[in-house]
Amino acid sequence: MAKIVKGSEKSDLVATSGERLTGKELGTAVVTTDAFPNPGLPPHRQRVTDTNPQRLARAARIVAWLFYLSIAGSIFTIFAYMFFPIEDGSTTSIRLSTLYIGLGSAFALLAIGIAAVHWGKAVMADKEGVDERHPVRGTDETRARAVEIFKEADEESGFSRRTLIRNGMIGAFIAFPLPAIALFRGLAPMDEDPNNLMKHTFWKKGLRLTHDPTGVPIKASDLTIGSSVHVIPEGLLDLPEAQMLDQKAKAAVLVVRLKPEDLHWTSEQRKNWSYDGIVAYSKICTHVGCPVALYEQQTHHLLCPCHQSQFDISNECAVIFGPAARPLPQLPIAVDAEGYLVALSDFDQPVGPSFWEREK
Ligand code: FES
Repeated sequence: MAKIVKGSEKSDLVATSGERLTGKELGTAVVTTDAFPNPGLPPHRQRVTDTNPQRLARAARIVAWLFYLSIAGSIFTIFAYMFFPIEDGSTTSIRLSTLYIGLGSAFALLAIGIAAVHWGKAVMADKEGVDERHPVRGTDETRARAVEIFKEADEESGFSRRTLIRNGMIGAFIAFPLPAIALFRGLAPMDEDPNNLMKHTFWKKGLRLTHDPTGVPIKASDLTIGSSVHVIPEGLLDLPEAQMLDQKAKAAVLVVRLKPEDLHWTSEQRKNWSYDGIVAYSKICTHVGCPVALYEQQTHHLLCPCHQSQFDISNECAVIFGPAARPLPQLPIAVDAEGYLVALSDFDQPVGPSFWEREK
């Protein structure tokens, strides 16, 4: 609903002095009124814990126990991490480890959530109040009242008085993030420089380029102009499954054949990294690592489906659109004596998203 305020008529708008502004001061103002009438509050109903002290004590015990169960869940998570380690090449160990760690932390968090809700619904004082709207910065009286309310809330919730619940809650909150310390440490390898792992892939000089996922070597003569193939390094499939997946995540490559005259090189070095129009680029997007595999034959553009970064294959895979910050790394290739495509070396720069040590 809206009404027009004219002349000396008083409006619902208020000046900073607190006085209601008139239509003269406002010009001709349109003042809106509430579209819906205030429905008010339903009659107050007491809870069973308001009238029965035994039920109240029981509810308080349940809340405390839930916090302690949360602590147990967090401790279980740490033990699960220690006693169900991920073993090289064993997918069963990966499943067991993630299952128990997930169950432990989910249980710990769930128990905190249920305890908080039960504390609020059954143990804290059940008082209804009306809170009027007011300016953002309260007056000194309001602020003093806020402190009073805080004290009242402390008194009513029993936060200071009910030490069992309070200490349980504090313990649960402290214990819950502890598994993260162990979990994050586990992300970095114990015996190898993680920096080195991110910089190198399975590719090395002389490895043949093979079809993904069959592992069949690719001859240069098999590729017609305009074709694109998904490629993995020779020997990758011989690794244990978990190790193979780790390596594949970094070594996946897309090979494309263009007319040699469509390839434009800005550096002399790169001219020797392709064979008769055949080029190989990392398939791992330099934005956040999705597989870049949508090849548009007419424009020679590669599209990443995650956030629409586009790379120009004819131009050293330069970024032409989207959030990716750098071109896709190129794998230097040639052909061996039998006509199979082989790598000349590993990538000359880290694949995938940029990371903090990339420039070192
Ligand atoms: S991961 Fe490729 S654009 Fe974001």
